Amino acid sequence: MSEKTFYITTPIYYPSGNLHIGHTYTTVAADTITRFKKLQGYDTYFLTGTDEHGQKIEKVAEAAGVAPQAYVDGIVTGIKNLWDTMNISYDQFIRTTDPEHEKTIQRIFKQLYDQGDIYKSNYEGWYCTPCESFWTESQLVDGNCPDCGRPVEKASEEAYFFKMSKYADDLMKYIEDNPHFIQPESRKNEMVNNFIKPGLQDLCVSRTSFTWGVPVDFDPGHVVYVWIDALPNYISALGYLNDKPNLMEKYWPADVHLVGKDIIRFHTIYWPIILMALKLPLPKQVYGHGWILLKGGKMSKSVGNVVDPVVLVDKYGVDALRYHVLREMSYGSDGVYNEDLLVSHINSDLANDLGNLLSRTLAMTDKYFGGVIPKERETAEIDHDLIDLAEKTPAIVSDYMDKLDFSRALEEIWKLVSRSNKYIDETQPWVLGKSPEKQARLAQVMYNLTESLRIVTVLISAAMPETARKIGEQLKCPEASLTWDSIQKFGGYPEGLKIERCEALFPRIELEKKAEQPVKDAKAKTEKAKKENDSPSSEELPEGLITIDDFAKVQLRVAEVVACEPHPDADRLLVLQLLVGQEKRQVVSGIAKYYAPADLVGKTVILVANLKPVNLRGLESNGMILAATKGKKLSLVTVDGIPSGGKVS
Ligand code: ME8
Ligand code: MG
Repeated sequence: MSEKTFYITTPIYYPSGNLHIGHTYTTVAADTITRFKKLQGYDTYFLTGTDEHGQKIEKVAEAAGVAPQAYVDGIVTGIKNLWDTMNISYDQFIRTTDPEHEKTIQRIFKQLYDQGDIYKSNYEGWYCTPCESFWTESQLVDGNCPDCGRPVEKASEEAYFFKMSKYADDLMKYIEDNPHFIQPESRKNEMVNNFIKPGLQDLCVSRTSFTWGVPVDFDPGHVVYVWIDALPNYISALGYLNDKPNLMEKYWPADVHLVGKDIIRFHTIYWPIILMALKLPLPKQVYGHGWILLKGGKMSKSVGNVVDPVVLVDKYGVDALRYHVLREMSYGSDGVYNEDLLVSHINSDLANDLGNLLSRTLAMTDKYFGGVIPKERETAEIDHDLIDLAEKTPAIVSDYMDKLDFSRALEEIWKLVSRSNKYIDETQPWVLGKSPEKQARLAQVMYNLTESLRIVTVLISAAMPETARKIGEQLKCPEASLTWDSIQKFGGYPEGLKIERCEALFPRIELEKKAEQPVKDAKAKTEKAKKENDSPSSEELPEGLITIDDFAKVQLRVAEVVACEPHPDADRLLVLQLLVGQEKRQVVSGIAKYYAPADLVGKTVILVANLKPVNLRGLESNGMILAATKGKKLSLVTVDGIPSGGKVS
């Protein structure tokens, strides 16, 4: 039996509608780390599923004219198909309507009640009679029901509550003693300062105003309310207090609960407290990733601005989408979804870098050696750099994977891809191919390229299983040459295999509209213009004056604020996500005193686009936005009618 186990979970999603690219990101990320750990020899367990109870589902089903169970059954079928399409290798798909899960929830509820952690009281709120719904003050829209817009009245309902505050000190201690429990670090400060320190409210854990839920077996009329039904899925799936196979001993505590930052509070406060009350060990880590944003804010089933992953997979293929979301979402921060960015990842990273490396290597091996690299080979000094990088890369990638920093992990793999492409340019196999006396050298060059590709194949196999399989087949790699151990040393590609050319891995996608000039090109142009222009240099000018060339060095661009949040560690700072044409930028700006984050979303501002990136209290700031100030007043410089990406001069 393998000793090293790895238990990872995604949130259980609400089957209130079809899932979108945001849910796909979480699940692809969990799948990627699972496959990577498996590659490294871990005994992994990967849980995902659906959170099927509650008033919202009850209503959506009613609107669709079907019973709640039939409604969720339909959606769940679609979700399972989506995960098959995305190549998600989960071990169990849990549904909160599974009878075994319901058994666990009833038993947990009873136990917590018996030991005095749950007590009966009244839930005060605003009631909408036509909708039969309770709302909290903050949920109301202009004082009316957020669903139907009709007036609401103050009412109270009998409900059970969980004494959260009782465990607050123990939770604080656990968080302090386990610095890796809440990741990324910034989310930990937010939880501690905004929620735990101000004092925890007791949590309402039952309702009587709807029936689609797990019944409280000792008090008919009550159903268990959302989080205390949902969170224990992570243990009911392992057979806790039910008759499923008992996997608790083997896999609990979880190694990581992967969730979006929208629900990190429930996972780092309520869930640990429930576990403490049950006297169970707490998960080793809760990782709260950022959001995938669309222009105008977070994608959401209820807002209706979603991107359907099935459509994207049909158009671009599963691995292009997996690569794109993993690469685009940098560690802990938000990412912007935009089809142009996806296409540019396909064209540059996948088609150009990886696809070309493979096709050039295969084509040359075929052309010069009929597909079989000769054993007689001759090394050269220039090989060392490539070999060093290839041998260093697995450990670096593994470190980033452990931190769930998929974007960086892929970036490191792509450094090896680029280094290999550069190696082709350096060694010029087409020149070697012309001299019969350079055959041994040429053979070594082709071997090194093939070997480097083999290492890349193993490294990408977690993120892009389909692509890895295709490359492995073309290189004719046997299983044993695709293991983690086998890539720790350069030179494991077996002798005598006959490589076979196949179709391109990632055909280039023609953009319908021509993409806007990337900033990099603009920079090259400015440099060129400068050389051609014969104006005086700044040293020859009176002090304080600059030339037009000096000014031209500052690249000003119109940028749209697509999201904005307070800096988790600095009151003065806001963290803005900008779109500059098709490019995404994060800028940290000291304007928190002047603007509420929500007021900035949608504004079109001016960005200094070629400023050297800096790190401000732990977050990268890539550019600066212009503001006018006088005394205590500050106003951002905004423009009307010019789309983002526009130039300012
Ligand atoms: O919250 N960007 O379910 P849910 C990135 N049932 N990730 C996103 C996203 C986006 N725009 N939108 C959704 C629930 N997600 C509860 C969970 S767990 C015990 C109960 C992902 O359907 C992200 O992982 O609203 C987020 O946390 C989750 O979907 C919310 O899914
Ligand atoms: Mg949600």
